[in-house]
Amino acid sequence: LQQILFKNPNEPPVVFHWFPIIGSTITYGMDPPRFFHEMRAKYGDIFTFILLGKKTTVYVGPAGNDFILNGKLKDVSAEDIYTVLTTPVFGKDVVYDCPNSKLMEQKKFMKVALTTPAFQKYVPIIADEVTSYFKKCPDFKGQSGVANIPKNMAELTIFTASHSLQGKEVRSRFDEGIAALYHDLDMGFTPVNFMLHWVPLPWNARRDRAQRTIANIYMDIIKERRAKGNNDGSEDIMWHLMNATYKNGVKVPDHEVAHMLIALLMAGQHSSSSTSAWIMLRLASRPDITEALYREQVEALGEDLPPLTYEDLAKLPLNQNIIKETLRLHAPIHSILRAVKSPMQVPGTKYVVPTSHQLLAAAGVSATDPKYFPEPDLWEPTRWNKDSPIAPSVVQDAAAEEEKIDYGYGLVSKGANSPYLPFGAGRHRCIGEQFANLQLQVITAMIVRMFKFRNVDGSNRVIGTDYASLFSRPLEPANIHWEKRNW
Ligand code: HEM
Repeated sequence: LQQILFKNPNEPPVVFHWFPIIGSTITYGMDPPRFFHEMRAKYGDIFTFILLGKKTTVYVGPAGNDFILNGKLKDVSAEDIYTVLTTPVFGKDVVYDCPNSKLMEQKKFMKVALTTPAFQKYVPIIADEVTSYFKKCPDFKGQSGVANIPKNMAELTIFTASHSLQGKEVRSRFDEGIAALYHDLDMGFTPVNFMLHWVPLPWNARRDRAQRTIANIYMDIIKERRAKGNNDGSEDIMWHLMNATYKNGVKVPDHEVAHMLIALLMAGQHSSSSTSAWIMLRLASRPDITEALYREQVEALGEDLPPLTYEDLAKLPLNQNIIKETLRLHAPIHSILRAVKSPMQVPGTKYVVPTSHQLLAAAGVSATDPKYFPEPDLWEPTRWNKDSPIAPSVVQDAAAEEEKIDYGYGLVSKGANSPYLPFGAGRHRCIGEQFANLQLQVITAMIVRMFKFRNVDGSNRVIGTDYASLFSRPLEPANIHWEKRNW
């Protein structure tokens, strides 16, 4: 009754619910994409639901993506939402524990190590990590077997990312205990920590100890590197951050370097490892594509498959489209939240979103909309070829794509008016996109050289999604059958 009597015509429709605080928390939490699709069918592109007592306004579709992700600094805030979760994990004075202008400068510093010359160095590092991982891993003893692939992909992601981005000193410590510390730190990245941040959760003490210990390890390495006076040629991200200066002339302090390094590894770890697990599961469900990938390498690079280089990746379009298509269906970040700082008029509608609401962007909804992607639920990497019968219709608003804007960390597309945004848009857009693409392409190419995969029961079935963690990922155990090629 209250919902009907007190309905404000200038606010978006409210999703019907029985209980005031709980609202739609359970139906949303169980399967967010399904919730968005169903509510959109009932209420349209803009609607409000109650998430743990908080009015949460969802605006799906390209216009919604643009409205939220390109919201002005005076209207929307990411830090108001995320700092309770990220500050204990990353540490003080970085990312959301500082004014947005400082984050923009930090993103610019982090991007310096993510350029073509760096990528040329990273490819052999990542390729070698992949080969040596599978040669050593006890799960892959013998000629064939079954493995719970997300676990292996999580390990491989942290080894490849730490070695390439943070240098060999840090990588070597992953064999000596830092992995366990990162595991403790990761326990702070749960939905419970996000929703109930004021509760003294039993694992928070371990999280805090891990944060301090890891930060100290990085700070010791930084001191050693400074003492040596020179870098040994490995121009990794630590080296760039250590030598960076803010616009106001202040050199980036060591604790901020350490905290940014933690943030970078944590930001990439969940999204990239979930994506690589989905790639392997999809390949197991489509052995024909795995073979096509193998043939693509033989044809483009030669029968003897020489060591992979950065330049080779451009010669492997199917290998690239595997990543694109997997992110279309399995983008690890299903919901992006923003606090509303001043009432926001939704263009072309009578709605005004008040400051008592939070905004939620769900770009995955348009990425699975038949309006833009024919046969949207079909995982078909070849759809990204222009001549495919199921090629995306209008994926990008070309004019908006060409128009660029600089929020302080380099040029990004001005419009977020696209149905395909797995890396977000606007001032909070991902800076790790090129690195993630490179890492995933090298991992996929190297694994295809080493293995043939299939589902354990030989079917084309795909495993369900686990939405219980902050980043969606495959439900475990997610077993696949592997068979070694000739090695
Ligand atoms: C931001 C996705 C990998 C670093 C974002 C955002 C998305 C995203 C959707 C926007 C979040 C928001 O607007 O609130 C992904 C996906 C990845 C990936 C799908 C892999 C497949 C990485 C990697 C790194 C990274 C490897 C680091 C090397 C960052 C950073 C931000 C960001 C620093 C900026 C946060 C902000 O400005 O608020 N990412 N990411 N990401 N990502 Fe990624």
